[in-house]
Amino acid sequence: MCGIVGYLGKKNTKEILLEGLKELEYRGYDSAGIAILSDNNFSSFKAVGKLVNLEDKTKDFVTDKFAVGIGHTRWATHGKPTELNAHPHVGSSSYVVHNGIIENYAELKKELQEKGVHFLSQTDTEVIVHLFEEKLKKSADAFEAFKETISELEGAYAILLVTKGEDERIFFAKNGSPMLVGINTENEKYFASSDTPLIGHCSDVNYFEDGDYGYVTPEKIVIFDKNDTQREPIFTKLSTNKLSAQKDGYRFFMEKEIYEQSDVIVDTLLGRLSENEIILDEIDSSLFDGINEIKLCACGTSYHSALTASYMFERYSKVKTSVEVASEFRYREPIMTKDTLFVVISQSGETADTLETLKMAKNAGLKTLVICNVDNSSMVRIADASILTRAGIEKGVASTKAFATQVVVFWMLSLYVAKLRNTLDAQEIAKQIALLREVPRSVKVEDSMHERIKRLSKRYLHGHGFFFIGRDLFYPLALEGALKLKEISYLHAEGYPSGEMKHGPIALADPELFTIALLPEHLLYEKSKSNVEELSARDATICAISPLVFDKADDYIQTQPQSHYMLEFFEMMVVVQILSLEISVRLGNDVDMPRNLAKSVTVE
Ligand code: AGP
Repeated sequence: MCGIVGYLGKKNTKEILLEGLKELEYRGYDSAGIAILSDNNFSSFKAVGKLVNLEDKTKDFVTDKFAVGIGHTRWATHGKPTELNAHPHVGSSSYVVHNGIIENYAELKKELQEKGVHFLSQTDTEVIVHLFEEKLKKSADAFEAFKETISELEGAYAILLVTKGEDERIFFAKNGSPMLVGINTENEKYFASSDTPLIGHCSDVNYFEDGDYGYVTPEKIVIFDKNDTQREPIFTKLSTNKLSAQKDGYRFFMEKEIYEQSDVIVDTLLGRLSENEIILDEIDSSLFDGINEIKLCACGTSYHSALTASYMFERYSKVKTSVEVASEFRYREPIMTKDTLFVVISQSGETADTLETLKMAKNAGLKTLVICNVDNSSMVRIADASILTRAGIEKGVASTKAFATQVVVFWMLSLYVAKLRNTLDAQEIAKQIALLREVPRSVKVEDSMHERIKRLSKRYLHGHGFFFIGRDLFYPLALEGALKLKEISYLHAEGYPSGEMKHGPIALADPELFTIALLPEHLLYEKSKSNVEELSARDATICAISPLVFDKADDYIQTQPQSHYMLEFFEMMVVVQILSLEISVRLGNDVDMPRNLAKSVTVE
């Protein structure tokens, strides 16, 4: 994902910007660039690929006096990863870097083009710098022009802009994409999209709020809030420990990654939704020509997202779908026919079992697709096509945001195929696209909800086992909930289809058997409820997760009313993740690095 840095001061601006970008490298990017204004002269460099290419291009460039500079790592959304599309974007005498998406860029671009403005790139970002320069023509004050520019932008952004004639100012604006500014005793100012680039340089930082805009000079930071009222910066001490800073104040990476899900899903959706269709630039629709079956193959959490996908492919796209555990598939001499699209799913793209099945499918002449979080991983390189989940680096061994983004990608893909095959009408596709836009909201962690689960978790530290139960799509979610709990609490947990409990496991029911029941309002509620009642009647301890009050439960986690079961799915996903986390914390376990587990399993 994109990263932003900015610097104002007397030190080696080039090095500071490049070092800052290096700290943001982990977010993933495909081009990078910097622009530096010193003595009223701009120097700008851009390069496609890794930062080392940019370092190479700037190696003879020296910055040894006061300067203002901005830098960016770009993860392509609007337009391919080319040098022209890389940031900073230039007007006639200004440069801009931007994270996020300017939703009304097409209208703005059209208006600017009609005024004779010439665009160099395919990005949404470029409109910002041209719009600013148009405003500047009519205003003597650069800040006024910047303010007017921001007021016309719709969408999410973190923006830094520098302009000639203002070589002691950096203009900034933030709405929806993170950004902070740091200070020290040397009158320097540092900007970044997360705090790690600032560690070691700044003592205090101000995190911008949505709607904030303003500028910095060597002497001051001027901030206006969303109501155009000037406010003082609110400084907090910056950690000196990189690792703890990377946790952004959370206790564990897993916790941070759970909270991050809303933002990363915004990234997953970025540029892929229009009002009535799914846009997946990375695949060609011919991938589905002649395909009568989809076979999904993965391990662990990725296997659970594949199972979830199988419901959507059959329900929405009307394509026969089967799901395979990779380690089983490898050795069971499977029949592979060429009318099958073979899809592997992997956070890392390196899992040995999954990778091997991909090779098998390729050798058998099947078309292959990978849903993956890591660009350039082995699976991405081998598969015919790939769709990246854009979850950002996932450090917790117990996967959370990778799962969430995989399911989002599958939802989009099933609608994409539904449109291709005409299996859902246009109205239903538009409705589901509108629902997809609501997913980031549905996974936002409410403090009250987290607090409730934390309190409740103390009752679930013993017993002879957990059953997570659900029906339909909520069955794979039950499997995933049980896997999360097992991984980090070391308690025995199973995921089970609610309707299947009576065929055996109900024999285990007693007060020491903990049942975590997923009871969505909009999918088989009555049927699932009856299954839970059967368990309740046999005195199993029930913790119900539902938007509807369920009086047969011992404990009850009430979720928000949602308009569709998919939104309930995502909200309940967060609940089971937090429940596992809090149980593990109470048991004193290593949440991020549970015993016996590795993040990437490259052995079979
Ligand atoms: C999930 O919490 C796991 N740690 C594990 O099951 C993981 O999903 C599995 O090893 C597959 O990894 P992959 O997605 O990187 O292929």
